[in-house]
Amino acid sequence: MDFSGKTVAITGAASGIGLATAQAAANLGASVIALDRDIHALEGIREDFAAKGWSMTAIEVDIGSEDSVREAVGVRMESVTSVDLLVNSAGIVSRGMFETTTGEEWQRVLSINLSGSFFCLQQMIPLLKAGTGRAAVNVASLAAKRVSYTGGVSYTAAKAGMLGLTRHAAFELASVGIRVNAVCPGPVLTAMTQRVLPEEERKKVAAMVPLGDWLSPDDVAQAILFLGSPAARMITGTALDIDGGLSLITGASFESYQRSRQ
Ligand SMILES: NC(=O)c1ccc[n+]([C@@H]2O[C@H](COP(=O)([O-])OP(=O)(O)OC[C@H]3O[C@@H](n4cnc5c(N)ncnc54)[C@H](O)[C@@H]3O)[C@@H](O)[C@H]2O)c1
Repeated sequence: MDFSGKTVAITGAASGIGLATAQAAANLGASVIALDRDIHALEGIREDFAAKGWSMTAIEVDIGSEDSVREAVGVRMESVTSVDLLVNSAGIVSRGMFETTTGEEWQRVLSINLSGSFFCLQQMIPLLKAGTGRAAVNVASLAAKRVSYTGGVSYTAAKAGMLGLTRHAAFELASVGIRVNAVCPGPVLTAMTQRVLPEEERKKVAAMVPLGDWLSPDDVAQAILFLGSPAARMITGTALDIDGGLSLITGASFESYQRSRQ
């Protein structure tokens, strides 16, 4: 893949999957527009990028607020003339059980994990039209098709909504040549999962994955960049599972499946 001369805008670029995508894109020659609410982390990352000779612009945004997205794209990105690929990776996780999830928690997760991606894609359409890459990739989750292990009901619902957003945007924006796809990662070792799952629990998660390991943020980044590259020029509206085979299993582990046949 070659992203020389391309501009890649990434939300949630200060950490985890967003950061890995920013690094992989820059390594392939892209100019990165890194958007995150954590501007201090972005400033530090910009120094690392500069040391490697990579181009990066840091933009502060709270994607849960339409006004903030409007300001980030319309004012802080004023000098940007085109975007070739938008990656919507910013997100949060909530752990509440169904019966005790408050309206406030529900709204917060939906506004960041679902509405945020809608606002960013909608606001960036003129920039995407001005680019030649004309692609967007939404970072959904395996939870979009199943049930979240790390998060609660609001997380599962928001990620399922993200697939509807992806399909509908793909359908409408095909008329202007913009492709919109989603990735559905299984368990990825990032700050998000490390924060909520203790070491013992993390081992159990790896044991559940048929390929036997957690995903790395770069495993997801590579799939995102494939979907955002010309190699995927006729792929739109799809949701690609990147999960080490986790969605293949029935609930039983491979060991118990094998044991039952001996
Ligand atoms: N880690 C996993 O196992 C996993 C699995 C499937 C999907 N995902 C999804 O991948 C995406 C990235 O997750 P991650 O694991 O890299 O998490 P992370 O916590 O490492 O990174 C998330 C980034 O999003 C930013 N962010 C959060 N809320 C924001 C807001 N309102 N405005 C702007 N920026 C905001 C954070 O500051 C952070 O830099 C999320 O959408 C998450 O739901 C993660």
